[in-house]
Amino acid sequence: MIADQTKWNERHAGRTGHHPADTYLLKMQHHLKPGRLLDIASGRGRNGLHLAKSGYDVLAVDISNIGLEAIQDAANLNNLNIKTLLLDLDHPQALMSDGPFDNVIIINFKPLKNLLDLMPDLLVAGGKLLWCSFNELQIDVSGFNPDKALYPAEFVSHFKKLNLIDYCRFEDASGHRDGYLFERNSV
Ligand SMILES: C[S@@+](CC[C@H](N)C(=O)[O-])C[C@H]1O[C@@H](n2cnc3c(N)ncnc32)[C@H](O)[C@@H]1O
Repeated sequence: MIADQTKWNERHAGRTGHHPADTYLLKMQHHLKPGRLLDIASGRGRNGLHLAKSGYDVLAVDISNIGLEAIQDAANLNNLNIKTLLLDLDHPQALMSDGPFDNVIIINFKPLKNLLDLMPDLLVAGGKLLWCSFNELQIDVSGFNPDKALYPAEFVSHFKKLNLIDYCRFEDASGHRDGYLFERNSV
């Protein structure tokens, strides 16, 4: 959506440098499978850059060309293996031609159903989906958009072809969050 692109380009353009990688990602990173990794809604790339430094072959996807340029500049400077793809994830079908991946990460973003439906087919057998975003407790704290919040155990039983490895609710410096880790089954 053009409105999303304008909004996020403005936000990303006002920033420099990169924040540390996400706390849930850092905690659960040892579960990830070596190899290819898709960073969904990658922003300015703090997570994808961290994982590329750890040896992953990263595809970063976002609607913000400004965010993707920040990733590509940092990747070039540090000689990291990151490709970028400018895509409106409300229309995610184009992702299928780049898959399958060994891992998908989604940090601080709630995909629409059409993208969630693609998750099993975006992953190899044994591949991991690591997802962490703000939950409904953040609505009162900061006016977080209720449509973009995660609700208690909302996706615990959602995916037929993904087995749940971890689900947790926690609070970190950024706010109230829910974290999920799934593994693609072999069926
Ligand atoms: C809160 S930021 C999270 C960025 C990154 N995952 C992180 O943790 O730093 C949300 C990101 O989602 C992206 N985004 C929002 N709507 C999108 C859409 N429809 N398609 C693709 N990306 C979108 C924004 O451009 C922004 O970079």
